[in-house]
Amino acid sequence: MTKTTLTVIKADIGGFVGHSAIHPDLIVKAEEELQSSKDKGQIKDFRVLWVGDDMALVMTHDKGTNSKEIHKLGWDTFVEGTKVAKELKLYGAGQDLLSEGFSGNIKGMGPGCAEMEFEERTSEPFIVFLADKTSPGAWNFPAYKMFADPFNTPGLVIDENMHGGFEFDIMDVKNNKTITLKAPEESYKILAFIGAVETYVIKNIRRRGDKMPCATMSTDKLSLLAGKYIGKDDPAMIIRCQSGLPAVGEVTNPFAFPHLVPGWMRGSHTGPMMPCSFADSNPSRFDGPPRVIGAGFQIAEGMLVGPRDMFNDPGFDNARQKANDVADYMRMHGPFEPHRLPPDQMEYTTLPKIQKEVKERWMENSDGPSTKDLADQHAYQATKDDELE
Ligand code: F6R
Ligand code: MG
Ligand code: MG
Repeated sequence: MTKTTLTVIKADIGGFVGHSAIHPDLIVKAEEELQSSKDKGQIKDFRVLWVGDDMALVMTHDKGTNSKEIHKLGWDTFVEGTKVAKELKLYGAGQDLLSEGFSGNIKGMGPGCAEMEFEERTSEPFIVFLADKTSPGAWNFPAYKMFADPFNTPGLVIDENMHGGFEFDIMDVKNNKTITLKAPEESYKILAFIGAVETYVIKNIRRRGDKMPCATMSTDKLSLLAGKYIGKDDPAMIIRCQSGLPAVGEVTNPFAFPHLVPGWMRGSHTGPMMPCSFADSNPSRFDGPPRVIGAGFQIAEGMLVGPRDMFNDPGFDNARQKANDVADYMRMHGPFEPHRLPPDQMEYTTLPKIQKEVKERWMENSDGPSTKDLADQHAYQATKDDELE
């Protein structure tokens, strides 16, 4: 049985114009680089895809996940692309390459990475989802619907191969920890975590009976890594489909609801996730709304057959219309929450600076609780929190 690894590495190495799209010369450069890696036998096959201002290198090979050689060639491709982006003075040239030199593994360096090693089945359909102007937690909702909600995926009920359910690796991105929870019996626990999309993100999903890998997501929180805003960590997700897994149509269906995700303008706003065709994946209204494309492939002995543009389907017209209506509605809030993200989730904020400027102008309220009362209240709450731990 052939073992194949599918690796998707994604980065913003310069926008055209601003943060709205990618320049064709960057695609040409990346294709040249990956063709030479293919000619040398380092990778079996590749496609260069893009969504908004992010380029995605989709590669197949036999080197397994976390291969230093594969990650390095992805990194080097982005470095070469950055040279072109700098010549054209594209916007934010090289913005996702956080480190000066490559040090072994692309995870934690800036580019997002999703990869899966698997034994090829008789037929191997996959969808690679790529999103722009949002973060990895944006996958939580659709991935849960695909693998744990029978109202989305009737196969969970009527295909005996799925009846045993799926297990979810959920990462706490702030504390760098992972927990594995089982659907359906732990689905309330799963939802308790993954509903908090800025902290908990689904990393992998496996079929429980045989531990078959079915889904994997990039979980790189670029802003956390950089310690300051550098670029929103626009995520990638790989989903394996059919024959005892959710069917292609069950995998795409969750995107018919344009759920609200964090990101959009300045990585600081909530907006609807719009499923779109490759041609429509360039967000230019208020740098959005956030976009997702679906690139469908069959994999044959490591070769990529595709992509098929999965959202280039009038079946998603209502979702796009709804996304535009929701975008209008959310935009009417201007700088107010919940359109604007809460202060701790904004990628940009002047609030600390303003706080400093007006510090002396805050007056104690004579009729409300004193600062001491509030401090006591906080101390009491902290004791209660400790008791719960
Ligand atoms: C969001 C994004 C854009 C920029 C915005 C301002 O992920 O990339 O919305 O935040 O265009 O960009 P700067 O600060 O570079 O002018
Ligand atoms: Mg950008
Ligand atoms: Mg982007």
